[in-house]
Amino acid sequence: MEVLSRLDQIVKEAAQEIKSASSLNDADNLRIKYLGRKSELTSILKNLGKLEPDLRPKVGKASNEVKRKIEQLLVEKNETLADQIFTHIGQSERIDITQPGDVRERGHLHPITQMRIEIEDIFTSIGFTIATGPEVETDYYNFEALNIPPDHPARDIQDTIWTEDGNLLRTHTSCVQIRTMEKFKPPIRVIAPGRVFRYEETDASHEHTFYQVEGLMVDRGISVANLIAVMKTMLRAVFHREVKVRLRPGYFPFVEPGFELDINCLLCGGTGCPACKNSGWNELLGCGMVHPNVLRAGDIDPEEYSGFAFGMGLDRLVMMKYGIGDIRLFHSAELRFLEQF
Ligand code: DAH
Repeated sequence: MEVLSRLDQIVKEAAQEIKSASSLNDADNLRIKYLGRKSELTSILKNLGKLEPDLRPKVGKASNEVKRKIEQLLVEKNETLADQIFTHIGQSERIDITQPGDVRERGHLHPITQMRIEIEDIFTSIGFTIATGPEVETDYYNFEALNIPPDHPARDIQDTIWTEDGNLLRTHTSCVQIRTMEKFKPPIRVIAPGRVFRYEETDASHEHTFYQVEGLMVDRGISVANLIAVMKTMLRAVFHREVKVRLRPGYFPFVEPGFELDINCLLCGGTGCPACKNSGWNELLGCGMVHPNVLRAGDIDPEEYSGFAFGMGLDRLVMMKYGIGDIRLFHSAELRFLEQF
């Protein structure tokens, strides 16, 4: 009888301890303690034979019940603990696969830079190379070698900022023409993209700092026909369609003859609209046949060689391509503008 009440006792103790187990490890230790080889229950079962014969079946049966009961309690406890662990993981590392991802803001190239790269690709594909020159220039390269002597009125329309030692912020990229001819002899095919500066009021179509691409082609027998062909090739590639061009006489000291090149208005197709002031045409760039004095300044014989040159505003080209009405947007802090490109 003593053994039977001990078995009752064991179940109670085990139930108590299992109830307060707080980890799977605790629960496993309790399994060893109550059901393991060295447990009291095991020793009771082992020693069944030593009991009075009529007690044996009773104690045997009760022992098995105790064993099953404790096993049952442990299974339940393990389930509860496992549930708790998964709930905890679920809360701290919850993954909702239907939630939209974090969108990372990515920067991108400025529209003028995109256009510069596009122009460079177009010209290199037809055999031009890319040249550069300094943004702080000498009077000689910016004016004099380009057939603009010190007293020339053309200097007034390209007013700029001078350094104390007599140099200046270049007013155009045309200086690179001379620098190129000094270094390379014909055939010459270069473009020179770069930043230029003017000392002037800013408004919707004027900036003190803007971008140009200069072009120069010098060889034997170069004519206006080559100029037009190259311009049309470039415009077709930039605007992805056939663009009509028109040359009007224009004065630039470094070319003779000099032209203003217009393209047919891309908005109205030439019928007239506010963007082209009802003319059907938009002024795009200055160009012409390189003046003999400029060739000479580049140490090239004008009797043997001829060439064409052009200077195009990159900002203006981007404005035309996208229908942008104000040049100042390019350098404004209005990021909503830039985000569109
Ligand atoms: N340099 C001129 C300007 O900034 C643009 C220009 C006109 C460049 C005619 C040329 C040219 O090469 O032939 O206004």
